[in-house]
Amino acid sequence: MDTENSLAFDGVLFHYPDTKAPALRELTVSIPKGRKTAVLGHNGSGKSTMFLHAVGILRPQQGAVLQGGKALSYSRKELAALRRSVGLVFQDPEQQLILSTPLEDVSFGLRGTGMDEAAIAARCRNVLELLNLAHLSDKPIHQLSLGQKKRTALAGVMAMEPELILLDEPTSYLDPLSEMQMLRGLDVIHEKGTTVVMATHDMNLAYRWADWIIVLDQGTCRAAGTPEEIFAQREDLQAIGLDLPLLADLWYSLPARLTAGEAAPRTAEDFKAVLNRLLDI
Ligand SMILES: Nc1ncnc2c1ncn2[C@@H]1O[C@H](COP(=O)(O)OP(=O)(O)O)[C@@H](O)[C@H]1O
Ligand SMILES: [Mg+2]
Repeated sequence: MDTENSLAFDGVLFHYPDTKAPALRELTVSIPKGRKTAVLGHNGSGKSTMFLHAVGILRPQQGAVLQGGKALSYSRKELAALRRSVGLVFQDPEQQLILSTPLEDVSFGLRGTGMDEAAIAARCRNVLELLNLAHLSDKPIHQLSLGQKKRTALAGVMAMEPELILLDEPTSYLDPLSEMQMLRGLDVIHEKGTTVVMATHDMNLAYRWADWIIVLDQGTCRAAGTPEEIFAQREDLQAIGLDLPLLADLWYSLPARLTAGEAAPRTAEDFKAVLNRLLDI
């Protein structure tokens, strides 16, 4: 059994009806357990389609999605188990939020699990506090900002405590404060052992946040590895139209004799500290 990967895609082909090209072209890639993975790729590269396969909303037309090394069978029982262990936060919170306030929405999923009301209330309070939504618990969802709606959608998924959470463009259109609140919540659940995966085309965010990177291009996996491995391959990224993160661009433009043996710094703070140290010599 493969215990290192939380989910794996093996040659997954998926073609939406009435479209010219497949959205996933024999996609083979693994999502490592316990990590913070960023799935990078420009629009249309297959990120959302990959995520819809991860929760069994879409099924491979060829190939398989594997959990614990075993191909999903899509029986009702297995789908129910899959959805308990894998949670997807949609890009558009309107697709996810169904009830009228954050508290009602976040409780809704838990009611189906047979938990008692006191435990549901406690779980909801924790999650809403963690995502800085406690003061908005009873506010009509249609009055929330996009950042608040996105955090509410995440809260609903987090409350179910899945082993793996996938977030589709969680920070797109968010202001810096909302983005920080979202990322802080993700760090907390990651520290508790949840595998966190986000699709993004924010290269700077991926560089500082992720510890594993998957690069999709035209429905295939172009590269997978640590941020250091992926972002050192400047030409490969540029060939598929992705920019280098600013800090990586700066770092890899420094003379190699200066940076030799140093791990590439992934935050501005680390960058300044390393540079100060190197230039002091
Ligand atoms: N519901 C759909 N119907 C038809 N084609 C779709 C649909 N959703 C996505 N596609 C197509 O599938 C490809 C992959 O899309 P998607 O998975 O949404 O990529 P990404 O999330 O990386 O932008 C694109 O060519 C897109 O136009
Ligand atoms: Mg998408």
